[in-house]
Amino acid sequence: MSIISEAARAKIDREAAKYPADRRQSAVMSALAIIQDEHGWLSVPLMDEVARYLGMPPVAVYEVASFYEMYNRAPTGRFKLTLCTNLPCALAGANAAAKQLHDRLGVEFGETTADGCFTLKEGECMGACGDAPVLLVNNKRMEGFMTPPRLEALLDELSAAAARGEGTPNAVEPEPKA
Ligand code: FES
Repeated sequence: MSIISEAARAKIDREAAKYPADRRQSAVMSALAIIQDEHGWLSVPLMDEVARYLGMPPVAVYEVASFYEMYNRAPTGRFKLTLCTNLPCALAGANAAAKQLHDRLGVEFGETTADGCFTLKEGECMGACGDAPVLLVNNKRMEGFMTPPRLEALLDELSAAAARGEGTPNAVEPEPKA
């Protein structure tokens, strides 16, 4: 039995139908995004299943998944925050936003908070420089003009959502309290 759900397979089929029948592998990026939405992150067995389903070598799927920052190759916190630190964002306060995130969450870029709520990532230009500094939540929700009060409000909102169990499925489990 496939570890890819029927619903996910239907979505992948819809994406693959946009390409010639002998080019199903062109839907690999969409397929990985669909699988990640469902499972939270891309394990090797899941990527292997995508490869099988699209008829391509597993290594070609690993290459795509490892090239793009939006794919999670390990469990993340419930909310992955990707802060753009490229020049236009840096000039508009991204460094201050990074410090605020480090200070409030107690983690560096690439780390997840002990409570499993947040994973912090450093990102490249997201094509929204006019809204700098820009932050992306779970690859989908873009937040601009991240001034200290707006960032604080966003973290409050997401912390409350995480406490309700919302956010990425199969997120990192909270560390046991000492
Ligand atoms: S530099 Fe940050 S969105 Fe372009």
